[in-house]
Amino acid sequence: MLEKILKEFDLDYLACQDKTAYNDLRVKYLGKSGKVTDALKEIKNVPNENKKAYGESVNNLKVLIEKRLGELSEKLEAMEFEKLMADMERVDLTVPNAESVGSLHPITITQNKIVEIFKSMGFAVEDGNEVETDYNNFEAVNIPKNHPARDMQDTFYLENGQVLKTHTSASQNRIMRKYGAPLKAIFPGRCFRNEELDASHENTFFQLEGMMIDKDISISNLIYFMKTMLSQVFGKEVNVRLRPGFFPFVEPGFELDCSCPYCGGEGCSVCKKSGWIELCPCGMIHPRVLEMGGIDPEEYQGFAFGLGLSRLAMMNFEINDIRVLNGGKLKQLKQIKTK
Ligand code: DAH
Repeated sequence: MLEKILKEFDLDYLACQDKTAYNDLRVKYLGKSGKVTDALKEIKNVPNENKKAYGESVNNLKVLIEKRLGELSEKLEAMEFEKLMADMERVDLTVPNAESVGSLHPITITQNKIVEIFKSMGFAVEDGNEVETDYNNFEAVNIPKNHPARDMQDTFYLENGQVLKTHTSASQNRIMRKYGAPLKAIFPGRCFRNEELDASHENTFFQLEGMMIDKDISISNLIYFMKTMLSQVFGKEVNVRLRPGFFPFVEPGFELDCSCPYCGGEGCSVCKKSGWIELCPCGMIHPRVLEMGGIDPEEYQGFAFGLGLSRLAMMNFEINDIRVLNGGKLKQLKQIKTK
């Protein structure tokens, strides 16, 4: 009888193709009045001397059927998954979707452009920290504690005394120590200041700093590089002029103006009718700053500049509110024509 059950089970097993049939199969053999269960109940009619052997055989049968049902269940699940995959709608990720194509951020585009220009002039490109030591951000660029220049660059202090860097000049010391003299490097970066926000002030903005240190470097080198770089940025020949400006880490220090690339110097709304735009504070690196960077000021001189990347991006893409840049509002950013 037990053999008959097993044979029948084998046939049912082969015929079983889905979960419903599987459940029926299970009930048919192992359910409350299933064939194996019934066979177990039969034990009461078996003569005493055969009871033990009979019991063992039915149990073996039960274990075998349970094992095979387990295998069958796994097989059916695998089959169902395969079917699901085969029926699934395919998405071709390579099809261009013009609706949702993004673009680089206006600041990234501006930065990439300037980086390429300086690279072509032999400058190394470096990254800076966003969290800086008080020493790098202030002391090493000649702004000691209690110096009034710290007031203009109020920033966010960490509990350990470090600061969110207020300017890319914070990397000057590290760059000088890394390369020594001579060096030509630029280092763009995100800066932070404790500012009241308005259309032209943000607590987070971007600068691009540069340094060139060598023997016999003079203001003419500074003018040459700035003029070349700005002419390439604006895609046309521009003029530059220097006005005196004070920054503790340069001597002499300047505000560098560029002839307005939009009106050619005639006067327009961008240059506020002056024909010039103020773009790039700069100067000859202060001997003390060189010294703190491990460079002998008797032997080497250099110039440094800090280009306002956010400002340049705003001019380039005609953005009139700086808050748009970091606001994270796609609706506003999408209106900027970056192509
Ligand atoms: N670090 C200055 C600022 O954020 C800008 C600056 C001025 C950088 C003169 C320079 C420089 O390298 O020579 O206000």
